[in-house]
Amino acid sequence: MKTGILTGVGNGIGLSICKNLLKKRYKVIGISKSSNSNIIDLKKKYKNFVFIKLDLSKKKLTETKIQNILTNHKNITFLINNAGIRYRKNSINSNFRTYQKVLDNNFFSAAILSNAYIKYLSYKNFTLKSSIVNITSIVGPRGFADLSNYASSKGALEYFSKSLAVEYAKKNIRVNCVAPGFIKSSYHENFKKNSTLYDWTVNRTPMNRWGEIDEIYPLVEFLLSKGSSYITGNTIYVDGGWTAQ
Ligand SMILES: NC(=O)c1ccc[n+]([C@@H]2O[C@H](COP(=O)([O-])OP(=O)(O)OC[C@H]3O[C@@H](n4cnc5c(N)ncnc54)[C@H](OP(=O)(O)O)[C@@H]3O)[C@@H](O)[C@H]2O)c1
Repeated sequence: MKTGILTGVGNGIGLSICKNLLKKRYKVIGISKSSNSNIIDLKKKYKNFVFIKLDLSKKKLTETKIQNILTNHKNITFLINNAGIRYRKNSINSNFRTYQKVLDNNFFSAAILSNAYIKYLSYKNFTLKSSIVNITSIVGPRGFADLSNYASSKGALEYFSKSLAVEYAKKNIRVNCVAPGFIKSSYHENFKKNSTLYDWTVNRTPMNRWGEIDEIYPLVEFLLSKGSSYITGNTIYVDGGWTAQ
């Protein structure tokens, strides 16, 4: 049984990845800001699920909790940094605090967990073959209006990942990013209310639709598996062709 940590398991893409890994008998230590009925169901249904309630934007608390997790669980071979917030605000109305909030949630959280995890692997002399998967976005590699906060956080995460990949390539650690396009997670229904913006996203996507929530998981599992043993430092898009244009 492979054991690993996955963040943002309460909803959306993280919940889908979590359910699918649990079905395939991975042991998942799932972190999320709050508990909800999805988490309660997962706890009831799967013995191989451990839930940790933690707001990852709280940096000190995150440093302490990740140490506890790494001390209490043996042979952790993967880390999936999925938790994130999205934030629409034009740049001239954004200030230091706005950027700080999005970076705390989307970037520093992943950086703290990744570095603690790599330190844990170093104590094992890097003998465990490990995979870190970071969920980034098409926002960052491509520019979008009103998303400079979000783009900065996802851009930071993507380039952090590439550096880690190179730094630890000889140490049995692979680091990759999965970059979704528009996926029908929790914000899909709300987004649809702005029909002009919604129609633009559909028409601009070569496949002419938003992605399903379960269309992210297969690539994530592949990046954890032996089949991807020579892949590191990459960003792979799951975006219906958006970035190909
Ligand atoms: N959906 C898309 O179209 C899309 C596109 C590109 C990239 N992404 C990225 O994919 C990831 C998942 O997105 P999603 O659409 O599935 O989001 P979602 O439906 O909003 O779910 C996000 C999950 O992460 C948790 N979370 C958020 N901030 C957290 C924090 N500070 N500490 C702990 N848990 C936290 C949330 O917990 P609570 O429910 O308790 O808040 C929730 O369970 C994000 O990183 C997002 O940027 C999504």
